[in-house]
Amino acid sequence: MGRYLTDTQIQAFRSDGFLVVPNFVSDDRCLQLRERAMALAEKHVPSPEEATVFTADGKPQHTSDDYFLTSGEQIRCFFEKDAFDAHGNLRAEPHLALNKLGHAMHDLDPVFDSFSRTSDLADVASDIGMRDPLLLQSMYIFKQPYIGGEVTCHTDHTYLWTEPQSVVGFWFAIDDATNENGCMWAVPGGHRLPVRSRSHLNDSRTATVMDVLDPEPYPLDNLQCLEAKRGTLVLLDGAVPHLSAANTSDKPRHAYTIHAIDGAASYLDDNWLQRPTLPLRGFSLN
Ligand code: FE2
Repeated sequence: MGRYLTDTQIQAFRSDGFLVVPNFVSDDRCLQLRERAMALAEKHVPSPEEATVFTADGKPQHTSDDYFLTSGEQIRCFFEKDAFDAHGNLRAEPHLALNKLGHAMHDLDPVFDSFSRTSDLADVASDIGMRDPLLLQSMYIFKQPYIGGEVTCHTDHTYLWTEPQSVVGFWFAIDDATNENGCMWAVPGGHRLPVRSRSHLNDSRTATVMDVLDPEPYPLDNLQCLEAKRGTLVLLDGAVPHLSAANTSDKPRHAYTIHAIDGAASYLDDNWLQRPTLPLRGFSLN
């Protein structure tokens, strides 16, 4: 028995590379985070020139690379690609056209900080074998009705590379995530496959490049649907391939993700996310 998880849950996480933990956070705390995210989104809406748009493969558009690449120590807004019409104008109010907030709300905003740092989360991290968990990035994903974009199959290790691999995603359903509004899907046991690609900064550190280590696509015939009610925690091994479909429904699918790495592993200095002035902290408050 772990501190929070049962032996069966720990075993399932090791075997599948993911684990769905219902009722991890109360509805009240989810709604408080949701409200805070909406307020931050209104406050941090960027000018059209600095706005970054996310394409289906998760790559930021080139013209806005700097806004993205320096967001590791900031609270910034990123838009959906379908948020803009053919003339480059936003189709909806800015706060309804957002893809996500990123990437340091957990360190810069008190509401996100207290949501992200609890003894339950510290216990879960310990149960899955993280010796020195450090919160690297946070993302609040809006997955808006009708325009919430698809996220194609990827592993988080591709983007947040450590030696050895250590990143774990702590994903929280802030709204109910269903097959209808674009819930996550993952490949059971896929974390035992070699990671197929690595994204890193180019030599001039002005953009990211993707190294394809193995061109073979991940096998998707066994994909598991990870539907999750509000308050559910989904743990994702950094090497497990996962994806989510577009949200074509009329229901929002807000979610919050923390990516934590193990301080015992080395974090590569050509990863896109760098935190030169903001030291990483663990799951305990203070
Ligand atoms: Fe991911």
